[in-house]
Amino acid sequence: MAKTTELRQVALERPFDDQKPGTSGLRKSTRQFQTPHYLESFIEASLRVVPGVEGGTLVVGGDGRYGNLAAISVIARMASAHGVSRLITTTGGILSTPAASHLIRSRGAVAGIILSASHNPGGLDGDFGVKINGANGGPAPESVTDAIHAATLHLESYRILDAEPLNLDAPGTTTIGAMAVEVIDGVDDYVALMQKLFDFDRIAALLRGDFRVAFDAMHAVTGPYASRLFEGLLGAPAGTVRNGLPLADFGGGHPDPNLTYAHELADLLLTGGAYDFGAACDGDGDRNMILGRNCFVNPSDSLAVLTANATLAPGYADGLAGVARSMPTSAAADVVAAELGIPCFETPTGWKFFGNLLDAGRITLCGEESFGTGSNHIREKDGLWAVLFWLQILAVRGCSVAEVMAGHWSRFGRHYYSRHDYEAVASEAAHGLYDRISGKLAALPGQAFAGRTIRAADDFGYTDPVDGSISKGQGLRVLLDDGSRVVLRLSGTGTKGATLRVYLESYVPPSGDLNQNPQLALKDLIDASDALAEIRSRTGMTRPTVIT
Ligand code: G6P
Ligand code: ZN
Repeated sequence: MAKTTELRQVALERPFDDQKPGTSGLRKSTRQFQTPHYLESFIEASLRVVPGVEGGTLVVGGDGRYGNLAAISVIARMASAHGVSRLITTTGGILSTPAASHLIRSRGAVAGIILSASHNPGGLDGDFGVKINGANGGPAPESVTDAIHAATLHLESYRILDAEPLNLDAPGTTTIGAMAVEVIDGVDDYVALMQKLFDFDRIAALLRGDFRVAFDAMHAVTGPYASRLFEGLLGAPAGTVRNGLPLADFGGGHPDPNLTYAHELADLLLTGGAYDFGAACDGDGDRNMILGRNCFVNPSDSLAVLTANATLAPGYADGLAGVARSMPTSAAADVVAAELGIPCFETPTGWKFFGNLLDAGRITLCGEESFGTGSNHIREKDGLWAVLFWLQILAVRGCSVAEVMAGHWSRFGRHYYSRHDYEAVASEAAHGLYDRISGKLAALPGQAFAGRTIRAADDFGYTDPVDGSISKGQGLRVLLDDGSRVVLRLSGTGTKGATLRVYLESYVPPSGDLNQNPQLALKDLIDASDALAEIRSRTGMTRPTVIT
């Protein structure tokens, strides 16, 4: 069907100077993104920088937050103006980050544009974001995001086609100018991939029995995926998926699956109750939180458990090439990897650092303390994949989450772990605190700390073993002589002030006390960190905003 379209070159009065992507794409307040030409500027720069755009296929979709549909239409019109030959998008514009990663790979797209601010709140008063993924399905590497940023700084105009807004109500095909537009159901391909990796009959047998599951989609993107998987294919009772309807403002909630923001689910599982298993995912579906009855699985432990039990899932039955974790993630997976005789890599925070290792076949599983777990099936972390993996393990082993954890710790020892976040700290105070510790690092080794001695202290740097690229300044580490450690980082994903993260970790071998409350087990480290970094006095906060 031919439509009247006209190519326009729109001049910018002046370039935007604040479009530097952070840990995960360009993330700003929704209102900032409403600034005329703001979205267009970043998209123009991206379409100019990403290789293969002209004549290539592009995948576009998002987590359903405010601005999602309008942005898809703008991007489609700009993509056509840049000579993209095919644009694949989804009904309702709903596409989780992991599903997007899979689509990019399976459709041979040159890139994907994912509209999401991940776990940040949405709506007009929340945040919006644009993530650019490359042809491997993973977040664009820093070389690309730096080039995009550089392009925004000198942008004089952008190209766009005048065309009617896209109709994303139902699957179908249409055109914008010379570009084909394919609207597909964003759930189908992803579900088919999951069916290849896991034994759905086995999991269904568990869910159809008296094993009760609660999944909280937090009114974000995973609702339709989880409903199809759990209540559809796996036969769990209706109501298993809570808050399953994606809403533009996530129902006013903060779609971050942790004990603070997913507290309704946490209360359901941690106060006795009727449920055996609980899980939640974030805004765009790449994060996960796993809970058992009276049992919270910290994400570092989750990676270790998946590593130790990987061969129970058909997709990983042949074993693992290796694993990787981000630096602030606890070393629980390292201990399992050592026992399995496979390599374990320590990367900076940010999923993009796993991409090269996955592409080179050096790792099969990877994960982060920030509730991200994933594998070589795509190039993003994958919330529902992690949930299915846990259900697979529970179905095969026939035991509870708490029993899995107890068995794991009694075999490998326990890494007591906690992250304390101080959110929305005045930027100056946070940077002052951070720079002060940074300046003290060299003098720390040999000093006493929480009844131990500081063995080493540094600012973490990483040399990518695949391409040799170097990333410096990735977090301050205070390493103690008994293997415990404290790490300080400033978040790269916040949009209000600065967020200080303090990561605390202490190892107890199988012969030690494996059943302590982590906050108590780590108390001396917590107190010593505050004394060292003067957190309370410098932030003016008496306690962290979020403890996980
Ligand atoms: C995003 C990235 C993760 C990363 C996290 C860190 O979720 O996808 O890979 O771990 O941000 O966020 P932070 O706020 O600690 O920089
Ligand atoms: Zn996310």
